[in-house]
Amino acid sequence: MSNVLVVNGPNLGRLGTREPEKYGSTTHDELAALVMQWGSEVGLEATLRQSDDETDLVHWMHEAVDTGTHVILNPAAFTHYSYALRDACALVTAAGLALVEVHLTNPHAREAFRSTSVISGVATGTIAGFGVDSYRLALQAVAGRVG
Ligand code: DQA
Repeated sequence: MSNVLVVNGPNLGRLGTREPEKYGSTTHDELAALVMQWGSEVGLEATLRQSDDETDLVHWMHEAVDTGTHVILNPAAFTHYSYALRDACALVTAAGLALVEVHLTNPHAREAFRSTSVISGVATGTIAGFGVDSYRLALQAVAGRVG
């Protein structure tokens, strides 16, 4: 089974109670279980990590490069301004690995500042707006490239 690292950025650890009308009622622990299950259904060993800290996210992208691991990333608010995370993501795709940017909501249907993603330009592709299903679709996309 191929490994895939699923990474969630700031405030996503609060899923379930954070603005549930936008982000849904699934908790982060429940999402971790779903990601593992959906991964195994498509032949992937998926691990979910979350951090509010940009440094952790950058280092996890480096780790993915060093271990040859595909990445599914919800950069959360870092989507809109973190050039450090963008540069780290560029290393992932430059290494020939998939990096799928995911969002629970459709950022383009929200406040204007959310329409800018500094990540998309170095991602393999983006899936947004399908709630937790965005992660399932991203796992399918990665499985399609691996398989
Ligand atoms: C988000 C969208 C971002 O604009 C926001 O800052 C988030 C979550 C999403 O999954 O819809 O934290 O990435």
